[in-house]
Amino acid sequence: MKIIIINGPNLNLLGTREPEVYGSLSFIEFLEELKKKYKDIEIDYFQSNIEGEIIDKLHEVGFNYNGIILNAAAYTHTSVGIGDAVKAIETPVVEVHISNVYAREEFRHHSYISPNASGIIVGMGLKGYELAIQSFYD
Ligand code: DQA
Repeated sequence: MKIIIINGPNLNLLGTREPEVYGSLSFIEFLEELKKKYKDIEIDYFQSNIEGEIIDKLHEVGFNYNGIILNAAAYTHTSVGIGDAVKAIETPVVEVHISNVYAREEFRHHSYISPNASGIIVGMGLKGYELAIQSFYD
């Protein structure tokens, strides 16, 4: 099974960015733990702060991976282009948000990803990525 985690803008700063909201673990440290725990799954990782790069990556993996875990971060709330890309591809996309976006500012309550996501995991911290991996098991 081949899965990719795609993280959007500012998520490269996890661990140092607003630790009270996003925790103090870096994503790379977290990813190493995930890979150790789920040795039978190929877990790829891509992070970009650039909208078009995220769209290009969705096109690249969207027909040959078993699952995509997408935290488009701030682009979730603004990007028609990423929403359209999720709609255009075949691989199921689980949308993940580390924080509970519904307990935060109003502008975070709308997602361009959700209507075309196969599932949504919100507010569970980094554990949300692991739950998304588990969701791809039969
Ligand atoms: C986020 C929530 C977004 O509103 C925010 O812009 C992020 C991270 C989350 O994982 O909680 O950058 O997607």
